Amino acid sequence: MTALRVNAIAAGATDFINKPFDPTELQARVTNLLALRRAQIELADQTAWLKREVEKATAHLVEREEEIIWRLARAIEYRDGDTGGHVSRVAQVSCLIAEGIGLSPERCRCIYLAAPLHDIGKIGIADSILSKPGKLTPTELETMRQHVSIGARILENGSSDVIRTAELIAQSHHERWDGTGYPDRLSGTDIPVEARVVAIADVFDALCSERPYKQAWPVADAYREIASLSGTHFDPACVAAFETRWPEIAALLAATEARTPRRLTARAPPLAGTCLSHPYHKTPRKYHDRRGRALA
Ligand SMILES: [Fe+2]
Repeated sequence: MTALRVNAIAAGATDFINKPFDPTELQARVTNLLALRRAQIELADQTAWLKREVEKATAHLVEREEEIIWRLARAIEYRDGDTGGHVSRVAQVSCLIAEGIGLSPERCRCIYLAAPLHDIGKIGIADSILSKPGKLTPTELETMRQHVSIGARILENGSSDVIRTAELIAQSHHERWDGTGYPDRLSGTDIPVEARVVAIADVFDALCSERPYKQAWPVADAYREIASLSGTHFDPACVAAFETRWPEIAALLAATEARTPRRLTARAPPLAGTCLSHPYHKTPRKYHDRRGRALA
């Protein structure tokens, strides 16, 4: 009998009643067990409801964080001369490159949301420099370059992964793979991977965009320029990912071009032309094949 009880408990039995049944005892036992079962079901329902509420609240927080980031990015873009959706394209291209080098979906999402804040430090740069149409003096150039450290200070000690990632990107998006960038002349993998990814997207989109001091480069030229800077300006792995994801990047550019031509509007203030020492501040390079014929 004891073995039978042990086996029953092991199988999940919670109560026993011996034969012959006492009707009063049986009714009391059944009533108690039904009450216990109802309580279990209510508890499970409440747990499921609480889980759904937590998920809803978390989704709401994430949504608000994203909304604030995009509104802030829009403010930065206006401050920087309304460059026609530059930060949004940088975010999308960065995400494609991040996926291409095999970063996790969580890291890709962080980069996508943090990339729009890469130039947040420009809000700390004087209008006289930020909006100067001509060449910057060496002193002005030095001041302009401070936008990276100003950006990092604005974003420092963030409490979320996105803001911590944004700080890394703001600080290091002008570093170069060969160590000739700024502000810290980091090289190779000493540069945070998030910044290496965004550096390509930032330069590529700037090349393809018209600015008061330069024409928009043909997309094919911009593509070749990025490829040619692999191993000097840019991380070769990130450039390889850029090339691999090129069909999607080209489609993205075509789609945004159709919606919002990447041309400056009359109300856009002129931008400083030499805040960076990169050829994307110049007119497009001419590319030639081996026989010296100009490539399209
Ligand atoms: Fe920048």
